[in-house]
Parts: sequence; C-alpha cells; structure tokens
Amino acid sequence: MRLSFTSGLAFTLLASSVTLVVDASAQGCPSDCLTTKGVPYVNSTDAQYANLSAPFNLRLPYKPVVIVLPTTPQHVSDAVVCASESGIKVASRSGGHSYAAFGLGGQNGSMVIDVRNFQDFSIDSNQVAKVGGGMRLGTMAQKLFNEGTRALPHGTCSGIGIGGHATHGGYGYSSRLWGLTLDHIIAMDAVLPNGTYITTSMTSYPEIFYALRGAAEFFGVVLNFYFQTEPAPSDVVWFTYTIPGLNESVEKATSAFIHLQDFARNSSVVDENLSFGTYVDRGVFLVRGIYTGTLASFDPIVTEMLRGLPSPSQNTTESIAWLDALTILDGTSLNPPVNEHDNFFAKSVTVPEISPLTEDAVTNYFTYLINEGANPDTGSWFSICNLYGGPGSQINTKTIDFAAYSDRDALWVFQHYSSEPANVSFPATAFNFVQGMNTALEQDMPNTTFGAYLNYIDPSLTPAEAHEEYYGSTLYAKLLALKEVVDPGNIFWNPQAIGA
Ligand SMILES: Cc1cc2nc3c(=O)[nH]c(=O)nc-3n(C[C@H](O)[C@H](O)[C@H](O)COP(=O)(O)OP(=O)(O)OC[C@H]3O[C@@H](n4cnc5c(N)ncnc54)[C@H](O)[C@@H]3O)c2cc1C
Ligand SMILES: *[C@@H]1O[C@H](CO)[C@@H](O)[C@H](O)[C@H]1NC(C)=O
Ligand SMILES: *[C@@H]1O[C@H](CO)[C@@H](O)[C@H](O)[C@H]1NC(C)=O
Ligand SMILES: *[C@@H]1O[C@H](CO)[C@@H](O)[C@H](O)[C@H]1NC(C)=O
Ligand SMILES: *[C@@H]1O[C@H](CO)[C@@H](O)[C@H](O)[C@H]1NC(C)=O
Ligand SMILES: *[C@@H]1O[C@H](CO)[C@@H](O)[C@H](O)[C@H]1NC(C)=O
Ligand SMILES: *[C@@H]1O[C@H](CO)[C@@H](O)[C@H](O)[C@H]1NC(C)=O
Ligand SMILES: *[C@@H]1O[C@H](CO)[C@@H](O)[C@H](O)[C@H]1NC(C)=O
Ligand SMILES: *[C@@H]1O[C@H](CO)[C@@H](O)[C@H](O)[C@H]1NC(C)=O
Ligand SMILES: *[C@@H]1O[C@H](CO)[C@@H](O)[C@H](O)[C@H]1NC(C)=O
Ligand SMILES: *[C@@H]1O[C@H](CO)[C@@H](O)[C@H](O)[C@H]1NC(C)=O
Repeated sequence: MRLSFTSGLAFTLLASSVTLVVDASAQGCPSDCLTTKGVPYVNSTDAQYANLSAPFNLRLPYKPVVIVLPTTPQHVSDAVVCASESGIKVASRSGGHSYAAFGLGGQNGSMVIDVRNFQDFSIDSNQVAKVGGGMRLGTMAQKLFNEGTRALPHGTCSGIGIGGHATHGGYGYSSRLWGLTLDHIIAMDAVLPNGTYITTSMTSYPEIFYALRGAAEFFGVVLNFYFQTEPAPSDVVWFTYTIPGLNESVEKATSAFIHLQDFARNSSVVDENLSFGTYVDRGVFLVRGIYTGTLASFDPIVTEMLRGLPSPSQNTTESIAWLDALTILDGTSLNPPVNEHDNFFAKSVTVPEISPLTEDAVTNYFTYLINEGANPDTGSWFSICNLYGGPGSQINTKTIDFAAYSDRDALWVFQHYSSEPANVSFPATAFNFVQGMNTALEQDMPNTTFGAYLNYIDPSLTPAEAHEEYYGSTLYAKLLALKEVVDPGNIFWNPQAIGA
C-alpha cells in the first residue's frame, strides 16, 4: 500500500482511505487533510498569512506551514490528527506574546493552532470564572470586574493571552497576596495530542491537569479555563518613586538595593498585601508597586522602605480603584492593542529565598549595568526586579506537588531585556549584554542555584538548560514519563520541549 505520490491531488485520495500508512507526500503538508475535515486555516498562499504569522517578538519571525483558526473543539481535534498524519509539529497560540515566539512553534514549519476564537466568559454562583483560552488579560480583567466585582492575580500587559500566561505562572502585583494566575485554575477543557477532548481537573485526568499547569504546550491545547476568582479590592495604593543619582553611582545603587532587600525580608513591616520591585535602565532607578490596604496603613511601610535612600526626585502615592490601577500598570489601556510588537531579547533570574543577594553580587551587578550599560550598542535595555517571596508570599506556600511549576522559593525574580527599533537587525552586542546581566548577577554566588521564570521564556537556553532552570530534575523526570504516554510521537513540540 505504500505508494509514492508527487501531487497533492493524489494525496487527497490516499488520505481519505488510509490511516495506518502515512505517505511521504503527506509529510509537511497538512492542508488537504484540514480541507477534507472542514477545519479553518490559513497558509502562505493566503493574503492574511503575513498578518497572522507576525510574531510579537520581531527578532524571531518563524514561518508556520499552516495557521489553524478553530472555532470548535472538533476543529482542534481534527487539526491535531492532521498534524500527526503529516508528521509536523503542533504549537498552540493564545495571545502570541511568547518571548521566544513559541506560539509560532519556535521554528519554521510547525502547525500553529491559534485559539483566538475561544472567547467564552461567565461567572457562576461559586465565583468560578470560565475564560476562553484566547482571551487577553485586559479583556478578562474588565469582564471579571464588570460582571462580578471579581479579580485574578495576573501580569500587567493587556495584550497578553491567558493561554500562555496562566499555564506558565502569571505574576502581578497581587501575586504575593493571592498567588499566581496558575494557582487559580481549578479545571480546563483541552484537546490532547491524540485528539481527545477532555475536561481535566484534580479529579479528572489529574496527571494531565498537573502537567498543563507549567508545561501546557507539550500536553494539550487549552480551550477553556475555569478559575476560582478573588473579590476585587475597592481601592489599592499605587506607588512609584524615582530615586535620583543611582544610575551614576555603583555604591549608591548597591546600598539602596541592599536596603530594599533587607526591607523585603522584614516581617515587622512587610506582609502579603505589599508588592514591589525596581525598574532600572540607563537613566532611571524606580521603586514601585501596589499595596492592598489604606494610605494610613501604608505610611509606616513606605517610611521604612525608603529609609536611607536618596529622596525621590518624583513620587506618586495614591489610593485608586482596582481597574484604574490595572490601567496604570498596563501603561495605556485595558483594551488589548491589536498590533503590538517589539524587537528584543530577554532573560530572567530567580534568586532563591534561602540565599539573598550578597553585597558583592549586587556591587558586581550595578558595576556592569552602569559601566557596560552606558555603551550605546547595548540597545534600549532595562532590568526589572520584583519581589516574589518575603513574609506572607502566597506564591511560595506551594511546591512542585501542586503543579508542574517549580518557582516556589524565589525571593526576587529579575527580568533582563534589551530592544531595538523594528527596522534594526538585532545586534550581537545587545544580545551579549543581556546574557552578561545574568552573569553579572550570578557570578559572585557560585554555590547558589539560580533559576529562570517560565513566562520570560529564553530561547537561547539549550533544551537541557531549559529543563533544569524551568523545572529541575525531579519535576522534569515526572513530565518526561507522562510525555512518553500522552504524546509518544512528540507532536506537541518546540525547541525546549519535554523530551527534546
Ligand atoms: C509586554 C509584556 C509584558 C509582560 N508582563 C508580564 C507580567 O507582568 N507578568 C508575567 O508573569 N508575565 C509577563 N509577560 C510574559 C507573558 O506572561 C508570557 O509571554 C506569556 O506566556 C504570553 O502568553 P500568550 O498566550 O500571549 O503567548 P503565546 O505566544 O500565545 O503562548 C506562550 C506559550 O504558551 C503556549 N500556549 C499558549 N496558549 C496555549 C493554550 N491554549 N494551550 C496550551 N499552550 C498554550 C504556547 O505554545 C507558548 O509556548 C509579559 C510579556 C509581554 C510581551
Ligand atoms: C495552501 O492551502 C491551499 C488551499 O487553501 C492549498 O491549495 C495549497 O496547496 C496550500 N499551500 C501549501 C504551501 O500548503
Ligand atoms: C492584522 O489585521 C488586523 C485587522 O485588520 C489589524 O488590526 C492588525 O494591525 C494586523 N496586524 C499586523 C501584525 O499586521
Ligand atoms: C524561516 O523561513 C524564512 C522565510 O522562508 C527564512 O527567511 C528563515 O531563514 C527561516 N528560518 C530558519 C531558522 O530556517
Ligand atoms: C542618570 O539619570 C539622569 C536623570 O534621568 C540623567 O540626566 C543622566 O544623564 C543619567 N546618567 C547617565 C550616565 O545616563
Ligand atoms: C490586605 O488585603 C486584604 C484583601 O484585600 C484585606 O482584606 C486586608 O484588610 C488587607 N490588610 C491590611 C493590613 O490592610
Ligand atoms: C524592620 O523594620 C522596623 C520598622 O521600621 C525597623 O525598626 C527595623 O530596623 C527593620 N529591621 C531591619 C533588619 O531592617
Ligand atoms: C513626594 O513629593 C511631595 C511633593 O514634592 C513631598 O512633599 C513628599 O515629601 C514626597 N514624598 C516622598 C515619599 O518622597
Ligand atoms: C529605521 O527607522 C527610523 C525611523 O523610521 C529611521 O530613522 C532609521 O534610519 C531606520 N533605520 C534603518 C536601519 O533602516
Ligand atoms: C562554595 O562552596 C564551597 C564548598 O562548600 C566552599 O569551599 C566555597 O568557599 C563556597 N564559595 C562561596 C563563594 O561561598
Ligand atoms: C488519548 O490520550 C489519553 C491520555 O493519554 C488517554 O486517556 C485516552 O485513552 C486516549 N484516547 C484514545 C482514543 O487513544
């Protein structure tokens, strides 16, 4: 029965009558299969292809062989079967904001299953929200508030998709109080690598429920999330302080950071209602965050936080409504932008709670930022450091027994980022500068095991490095064993896939 066809027409006949033998002509070309099954898709011959294949990260313009735009779970099941028969890899895409363009597969030639049409939203009497896998964070936040005065902890940019965000952590300024977005998932509707459509929870396909929360793209296409929501606070305190002079003095920057670290660990002033971090670039050093409480109760906290630091050259401390705070954090609007891009490279570092940064490490870090970072060929870089741990943190009350997510003991999470204008080919100097930010922070603490944050996915890591930094050996071994059962053909794949 194994015949050699060269034309697409001949393959159509084969595909409809044979399932056990995959003909060589089917390899890499799933369009006939999709057409036969009535699955909506776009490929490079369509006018919309350029638009639909544009990455968020312009540095990584991978070209999928086909972009599937399902409107039903059956379409997704059929698409997965077509990919399997064609021998091509599958990548799910929600908001498309992966730093590594993994929503496009992280390579040329994948099938992208774009879940943008899954936009269901409802809140039931138990305050569980059903959220379609393609919804953006800004849309979700507005619906949660407007339809139930509810909220979830999540990141700051309105355009981020819930599909990638919730399944790889999901940190925002309410995460010390409420935990990660991921922690609020109580069930999911998903299509598995064999095409089966399931609802998974702690009691239904529990191993898959576990794996999807941390490694979703290798185990299923999530079409709906069910989240246990939180009551939205009526107001929160939003604060931001510009600390002058620190961009020009290693000594001052180091002593300010060491004070902020002591403060962050000081349980007489810090509880889970406080979230804060630093933002540093060539021209500015900011301390900013959200406090869930009143201005009066924040007062002694900010006094201790800023004690001994140079007086802020600019400051904002205001009590504002929940959705106004989310809008300020986005910087523009809660309505997701339609055409948002950057040309960039980013990495992250998680600093374990048991080994806070030493003064030598911090000195080394600011020496690098202030000296090397002054060089114009390093791009428009920034360092964002946020407090994940510290007294009361609800992120760190869980372990890898809860979900396939390992960052449960970080004090700080650093994000290192450099970008260039869209029309500039990203230079090696900027790429190396970002790599150097990680090295500068880590090199004076050789006995500390630093990690990385899954939602700031770093495409420069080898598969082995990614597995170690994102999961660690125990969790990785568990995921690998499950992958061999659920996806023995490694259909759900990107360059850092479980089993890669
Ligand atoms: C401007 C900006 C700001 C950010 N701010 C924050 C922040 O404050 N806090 C934070 O935690 N993170 C933040 N991030 C990181 C963000 O959380 C991640 O990039 C996130 O994974 C993007 O999700 P997405 O659905 O938009 O991306 P996609 O590229 O669509 O997906 C990301 C990954 O998830 C997989 N995936 C997507 N949808 C599904 C699905 N339905 N089923 C299975 N797998 C799926 C994809 O295959 C891919 O591997 C920010 C990113 C950007 C670009
Ligand atoms: C793209 O899809 C069309 C049908 O819509 C099909 O005729 C064509 O062969 C496909 N092209 C590729 C490169 O797969
Ligand atoms: C894609 O098309 C939409 C709708 O026409 C448009 O708003 C958007 O800007 C386009 N995106 C890109 C990347 O061209
Ligand atoms: C992906 O395809 C594009 C367009 O065909 C090509 O320019 C690029 O070099 C390819 N990338 C890789 C990594 O093969
Ligand atoms: C430091 O920041 C100040 C204020 O933004 C700015 O005027 C100055 O140029 C910056 N210094 C350097 C070395 O970039
Ligand atoms: C902390 O936040 C919670 C949730 O909004 C609120 O109930 C509590 O009163 C806050 N605690 C303080 C000390 O303000
Ligand atoms: C903790 O905060 C209290 C209250 O401001 C302060 O008195 C104390 O010195 C702080 N402790 C440390 C170790 O910084
Ligand atoms: C903020 O600025 C105002 C006005 O310039 C000043 O009175 C106040 O002391 C400042 N607060 C802090 C915390 O620096
Ligand atoms: C990129 O665009 C900017 C503004 O549009 C222009 O000034 C610059 O010359 C362009 N650079 C390149 C390398 O094309
Ligand atoms: C790291 O650990 C080794 C072995 O315990 C020890 O000899 C060394 O001094 C440690 N280095 C640092 C910087 O703490
Ligand atoms: C599909 O995979 C799931 C998970 O491995 C399994 O429980 C189910 O029986 C499989 N379905 C079929 C039809 O093989």
